[in-house]
Amino acid sequence: MAATSSTADVQTQLTLPGKVIAVTGANRGIGLGVAECCLDNGADKVYSIDLAEPGEEFDAVSKKFPGRLFAVSANVTDEESITAAVDKIVEQAGAIHGMVVNAGRTNHKAALDFTKEDVESLFAVNLFGAFYTARAAARAFIKLNIKGSIVFTASMASYRPNKRVPSAPYGASKAGVRNMTHTLAMEWAKYNIRVNSVSPGLVRTAMTYWVPQQPDWEQQLKYYGGFPRLAEVQELGGAYVYLLSDAASYTTSIDIPVNGVIGRLLPSFIGVYR
Ligand SMILES: NC(=O)c1ccc[n+]([C@@H]2O[C@H](COP(=O)([O-])OP(=O)(O)OC[C@H]3O[C@@H](n4cnc5c(N)ncnc54)[C@H](O)[C@@H]3O)[C@@H](O)[C@H]2O)c1
Repeated sequence: MAATSSTADVQTQLTLPGKVIAVTGANRGIGLGVAECCLDNGADKVYSIDLAEPGEEFDAVSKKFPGRLFAVSANVTDEESITAAVDKIVEQAGAIHGMVVNAGRTNHKAALDFTKEDVESLFAVNLFGAFYTARAAARAFIKLNIKGSIVFTASMASYRPNKRVPSAPYGASKAGVRNMTHTLAMEWAKYNIRVNSVSPGLVRTAMTYWVPQQPDWEQQLKYYGGFPRLAEVQELGGAYVYLLSDAASYTTSIDIPVNGVIGRLLPSFIGVYR
């Protein structure tokens, strides 16, 4: 809905009417939670761009929104593959208005134990893949003359090290994502493309199943001082919906941490977060 001021085309409602949104890695986990929130908030169509085949989780959300959630296969580490996926979405849906750059992976171990292949494969998805995905989306927005929105999934690990289960490459890849957000926002403002990120803390997904299974998890929670639980994927969605919506038309180059305080620890006790 437009405001009644002289800025007639300013949207004041946090909804996504008529929008086509792509989310990388939305066959499950955070990406699927974001997809569901976008559809709940009026997005016309949401496309998951994923390497894997859609499974039961995806099918369940798809059934809830008949004819509005789709899966496209691509590997974000390959620029041709992600570009072809974006082209396919535009061909099928006639447009693309938002891209959530979310596909990612992790690997937690001591820096001295990482093999070259470990490091390269992690950066290939989390950083290079994120760059290729953002660029494929930006090219489509520019070609279609659409005021597009790009939202990266960064991480609280981009701010501070994860002391308990360290991963220098993971944290560095996510810090790179946040840094890239600022530069791309600056470069693409002239095309009316907005670029922002969301930094989750600990979210209950296949990636973090082990976190509450740690023997001292209850003890860790006491020190955190935040919400004594992991986030559900849908609890992140509002931040993405806001950044994807036209209500955020003057919001670019920011990060929204959604961490239930868990990632905001005193430096003396930096426990587990992702
Ligand atoms: N789970 C958390 O607590 C947490 C916290 C902070 C940030 N994150 C970030 O959130 C994002 C999603 O994490 P999640 O927990 O939902 O993970 P997940 O493993 O449940 O889902 C990741 C999805 O990405 C897809 N994917 C992986 N590599 C791909 C590639 N090369 N091309 C296309 N798709 C690919 C996978 O098939 C999968 O469907 C990641 O970027 C992760 O780093 C997660």
